Amino acid sequence: MDEKEAISGHFRDDFLWGTATASYQIEGGWNEDGKSQSVWDKHAHTEGKIDDQTNGDIACDSYHKYKDDVQIMKNLKVNSYRLSLSWSRLLPTGDSSAPNAAGVAYYNKLIDNLLENNIKPCVTLYHWDLPQCLHENGGWQSDDIVEKFKEYANFCFNAFGDRVKLWITINEPHVNATLGYGLGHHAPGIMGRKYAVCFRRLDYLKNIYIPDPMNACYMVSRTMLLAHAAAWHEYDTNYRSKQNGMVSISLNSDWAEPKDASNPKDAAAAIEYLQCSLGWFANPIFGSGDFPVYMREHIAQKSKEEGLSKSRLPEFSEEEIKYIKGTYDFFGLNHYTTRLCEQLNEHNEMHKFHPDLDVILLPDPTWDRAGSLWLYIVPWGLRRLLKYISKTYGNPKIIITENGCSTKHDPNATSGLAVLEDTQRCNYLKSYINEALKAVVQDGVDLRGYFAWSLLDNFEWKAGYTERFGIHYVDFKDPERKRTPRKSAAVFREIIVENGFK
Ligand code: NOJ
Repeated sequence: MDEKEAISGHFRDDFLWGTATASYQIEGGWNEDGKSQSVWDKHAHTEGKIDDQTNGDIACDSYHKYKDDVQIMKNLKVNSYRLSLSWSRLLPTGDSSAPNAAGVAYYNKLIDNLLENNIKPCVTLYHWDLPQCLHENGGWQSDDIVEKFKEYANFCFNAFGDRVKLWITINEPHVNATLGYGLGHHAPGIMGRKYAVCFRRLDYLKNIYIPDPMNACYMVSRTMLLAHAAAWHEYDTNYRSKQNGMVSISLNSDWAEPKDASNPKDAAAAIEYLQCSLGWFANPIFGSGDFPVYMREHIAQKSKEEGLSKSRLPEFSEEEIKYIKGTYDFFGLNHYTTRLCEQLNEHNEMHKFHPDLDVILLPDPTWDRAGSLWLYIVPWGLRRLLKYISKTYGNPKIIITENGCSTKHDPNATSGLAVLEDTQRCNYLKSYINEALKAVVQDGVDLRGYFAWSLLDNFEWKAGYTERFGIHYVDFKDPERKRTPRKSAAVFREIIVENGFK
């Protein structure tokens, strides 16, 4: 079958159709009703961190306008909504014995309103907005966080688990570790020494970033995996029999295609890249219980060459491996784009993007681009990735917990045609979802749901409001934060109503 040709067909009758958002990106109310500061409040309030000098103080104001959000979802005909909880709104001191009643009330109202409208909540516990007070006590760089996260998860299962049946522990630990604790573009803005050298970053020398000689990104990947596992076990032991829900994690991955499929070196480069990105977190949970063998050997070798006595990648004990392995009820996947891979050599060295990876990632110059520098539109990459996950990790149930397309925002545009006629996003959604359908009907992938990122334009982290992912336009100049459906909302609705393609 020609990859470009769309197929007709349907998803399972119980397929989950939803949109996704995250607390810091939409809620606002950053210091209201007892909420404490999160690392993102602190980061975005620091000069020079966000491209357009904005922040999530008000964002889409969903803290007050959640009913509007539910209504636009009702119109979309989605049956599920992926939202995240703000840890610092629920437990302002990080201590589960001192919850914030107003925070609990907010999420109760939102969850109840969703259910009244037949929309099932899919709830992420942690979408990067760690309470600042926990960060100051070591945060993800300290083992203590595992117990804190377990307490927080326990608190949330107890408070909302009677109504929430789908849980995500951590969103994209890979991005959180590499951008928050490696490159420093995200909160808490820690830049690894090796990243600084790799990127020849002068701003690092000017101390815009917090220097990290210890490779925090690997340290935090370990605590995140242990915290995820602790939350899953907590649910499994104390809640599953009463609440009957499912718990997993959302892992991000690009698809990696060999630049020249007939060149074994390129094929190996693609696998190496997948091992060190998706496999970094997927292997411990969905595979052997440990980091991938290639990643362990490769970083150990690099560390040795640097004269270090042990690997910069921490080790798990046998007991920890057993504890992490199998802590999932489905595979949560966030996917947006694809890269071509080739082995590092003397000609391409300048394009090296990751200090520990000897793989060069390139786009194909013919691929269409969306509004984010990193986002190339390659629908067939989703099908290949789904197939790869299915094959590598024993055909798990998969839920696409994020997929979507950005447009660059023109600050002078209003809600006229330019912002509402999002033809590229319409085509993106149609073609990616069609590739997902091919993965189901032609490759036997067990796909259970699809969440479009995002319901609304929102605070796109370092890019602020310059990049828009919403199938609804939000006017951030309007104090009412008016939401207007884009053309893509109608396209998505049509796919949902058909449960696939005619
Ligand atoms: C993944 C992240 O989970 C989400 O927060 C972000 O806005 C989208 N990707 C788009 O970059």
